[in-house]
Amino acid sequence: MSRFTPKPWPRKLRSQEWFGGTSRDHIYHRSWMKNQGFPADLFDGRPVIGILNTWSELTPCNAHLHDLAERVKHGVYEAGGFPVEVPVFSVAESSFRPSAMMFRNLAAMAVEEAIRGQPMDGCVLMVGCDKTTPSLLMAAASTDLPSIVVTGGPMLNGWFRGERVGSGTHLWKFSEAVKAGEMTQSEFLEAESAMSRSPGSCNTMGTASTMASMAEALGMALSGNAAIPAVDSRRRMMAQLTGRRIVQMVKDDLKPSDILTRDAFENAIRTNGAIGGSTNAVIHLLALAGRVGIDLTLDDWDRLGRDVPTIVNLMPSGKYLMEEFFYAGGLPVVIKRLGEAGLLHRDALTVSGQTAWEQVENVTNWNEDVILPAERPLTDHGGIAVLRGNLAPNGAVLKPSAASPHLMQHRGRAVVFEDIDDYKARINDEALEIDETCVMVLKNCGPKGYPGMAEVGNMGLPPKVLRKGITDMVRISDARMSGTAYGTVVLHTSPEAAVGGPLAVVRSGDMIELDVPARSLRLDISEAELAARLADWRPEIHSPETGYARLFHSHVQQADTGADFDFLKGCRGAAVGKDSH
Ligand code: FES
Repeated sequence: MSRFTPKPWPRKLRSQEWFGGTSRDHIYHRSWMKNQGFPADLFDGRPVIGILNTWSELTPCNAHLHDLAERVKHGVYEAGGFPVEVPVFSVAESSFRPSAMMFRNLAAMAVEEAIRGQPMDGCVLMVGCDKTTPSLLMAAASTDLPSIVVTGGPMLNGWFRGERVGSGTHLWKFSEAVKAGEMTQSEFLEAESAMSRSPGSCNTMGTASTMASMAEALGMALSGNAAIPAVDSRRRMMAQLTGRRIVQMVKDDLKPSDILTRDAFENAIRTNGAIGGSTNAVIHLLALAGRVGIDLTLDDWDRLGRDVPTIVNLMPSGKYLMEEFFYAGGLPVVIKRLGEAGLLHRDALTVSGQTAWEQVENVTNWNEDVILPAERPLTDHGGIAVLRGNLAPNGAVLKPSAASPHLMQHRGRAVVFEDIDDYKARINDEALEIDETCVMVLKNCGPKGYPGMAEVGNMGLPPKVLRKGITDMVRISDARMSGTAYGTVVLHTSPEAAVGGPLAVVRSGDMIELDVPARSLRLDISEAELAARLADWRPEIHSPETGYARLFHSHVQQADTGADFDFLKGCRGAAVGKDSH
């Protein structure tokens, strides 16, 4: 059983600092709110719930959250709270430039201040697209007001010419097929609409579905939240139940710091292995742990995930999509399986007030081809492999379930691209000296290099290799990779090239050795040669002069610690100074 003890209720809440009195300032705060027609009794000390909504028509994965918020409000009212919907900084993975990741920390910072500076006692985090989930979780963790996640849910299955089409996964597949001459450009255009046929986030086990699963596995969302399709009526029910629940969480004073314990992070890491989740979860959970003072490291990812079989048969690692995952029972089934295998901290507390185990012990797996039985997993060793060696002194990551078994131990000649523009300029050149045994190396795509560590690590193969029917090569970079992508792709190499990590001095023609079972990534040159090259290295990327880009460049940390800003680590609480009126 959990050791959480609810606080006595009723008691005075922080929103009463704005609304609960007869001074000029209290009148000012209430009166202005009343211009929306809110009756006086809503200001009587009941929990004020901020519905922090990342709705935006330019964040298409979250474009339905404005409607969904109405159901959250129903729930809050039913439970005796006062809901207020607050639009917050929304980052779209599909279109934010130069990279959505550059703005995760900005969103987290903006939302943290939106929580702290305004009269709310609890928060509903309405999220969906990749960065919206971690940024709001980071903000909630740093303010530590009672908070609960409700995601928008995935899109329905894509279908094209009788086959499932996975968000992102098939974009890469079709693009490669066009390059290989197996698909025409007009067929590719026809597939465009078939990929995204309903509201919601990517329907693969990409980063959005992974982060929704992480929120649930951490205990920050109600059980079953992650997989319900965006357009299913049960998504609306989930929103309403979430609204009801946050009111009780405020009354009990059940805060993120009660839930986001080391046990919770360990549960999430193992869950990520079981679902074949995105490598992006590594960065986001490291950053989130930093906000609550949990000393989570890359090595925890390798150690905890190594023996977790991937049992969720979803693209990009497997064959189905989130819709089928929901019909099979969704994440509760996976968490139950971890519990049965002794891989779950059963007593970890969740937003429901129940433990991780209590929530799932009676669920059923309705489709053993989607959530596979223990004796025939998709991969025996899921999780995230953390590689080290002279090419990645602080670590790099690879997702074994998305990689090719025959490339897990590979030695090959490096073909180096100095940055993404260099890659784009040369990759289609038939004269490029490259074949499938080579190792493609992409530099200057890390946190500072790109900037923002774009999802370009799964760089497409050269057409002359694709035409041979080859679909995978070893690729190494300091970039990230879309959670919808696949391949033998080494990511997050740290330190990155732009700050003088060894990746910066790899030259075309060098030999590189990848040994995933040994967790090793080596540049085959002598220590003296490596030291000499590093001594000669000069930075090519300089800090921008002004604006957010300057703040980002000055303060972003490396991937191996979560790429948060150095000054945003830790929990600062929700206390705020006096009124200025
Ligand atoms: Fe938004 Fe995939 S692009 S969830």
